[in-house]
Amino acid sequence: MQWKTKITELVKIKYPFIQGAFAGLGRPEFTAAFSNAGGLGILTAINYPSAEQFREAINKTFNLTNKPFGVNFSIMPPMMAKNVPKPRNENFYLEFMDVAIDEGVKICTTSAYRSDVIGKKFKSKGGTWFHKCTLLKHALTAERMGADAITLVGIEGTGFKNPLQNTTLVNITMARKMLSVPIIAAGGIGNARGFLAAIAMGADAVCFGTAILATKECPASNTYKKRIINQDIFNEDFYNQIYHHQLKDKSIWSMAAGHVDEILSVKEFLDKISGEAEELLRSWGFSGEVFTTL
Ligand SMILES: Cc1cc2nc3c(=O)[nH]c(=O)nc-3n(C[C@H](O)[C@H](O)[C@H](O)COP(=O)(O)O)c2cc1C
Repeated sequence: MQWKTKITELVKIKYPFIQGAFAGLGRPEFTAAFSNAGGLGILTAINYPSAEQFREAINKTFNLTNKPFGVNFSIMPPMMAKNVPKPRNENFYLEFMDVAIDEGVKICTTSAYRSDVIGKKFKSKGGTWFHKCTLLKHALTAERMGADAITLVGIEGTGFKNPLQNTTLVNITMARKMLSVPIIAAGGIGNARGFLAAIAMGADAVCFGTAILATKECPASNTYKKRIINQDIFNEDFYNQIYHHQLKDKSIWSMAAGHVDEILSVKEFLDKISGEAEELLRSWGFSGEVFTTL
């Protein structure tokens, strides 16, 4: 069955699946595996100390896949940046962005803090800009600044958190009413039901973070992957970590860990989500060959 949404059409991918940005892990092999499997792989700039090392990583990714992939610039918020000698703010990343444009990268994702300088410049060179945030009000600002799509991360998810963060259900159903650009749902999504639920809520794609941490191509250790598989998501400490922001010295994965049961290749994982989603749609009476939300 073929999937058609505003996002699959915009960035020309088989599945409406976007890879999360990953500090520490978002490197060429993992990125290329996600793109080769039919999603949009993301190479994370924070993993590279210099623009030249980032250039090498981009070239390596181009050697590993001929499918579309994007790069991520996670912008350090000012309150964090003031404690760091070389903060990774928008200015820091401008050189990285020039390298990405120079090497022919066509999609950039920004996250964590307002990123319109990078986004607008990337777009002025013909690129596509996605912005990821936690609050709808920030999504509205990014849309006004020209972002081509918005990823909204619900409180069930991980990454940067916000005290006013809402659930994925509230985020996406409200975003559908308030935004005009395509929407990518993130936060707690780890199986076919979560994927279809996000589509039903109004998303044009989903973003997988935690759900793909235990894949074969993810460069985390086997011990780390087993910890995710064994995570009891109903444990009180874990609950407080996710919903009450008790994040100090804690694991980074999210409620989506509840769906991580085994180590699969990225391709096996994406095919499984798509295959099970198709089975569900068939069981509900869908008989078409193209599932489209266009
Ligand atoms: C190990 C790890 C590292 C991450 N690093 C970043 C990052 O550097 N920048 C960013 O924007 N998001 C980062 N994220 C968040 C993901 O990109 C994604 O938004 C989030 O995982 C979605 O929620 P989920 O884990 O419930 O799928 C990270 C997530 C994980 C699990």
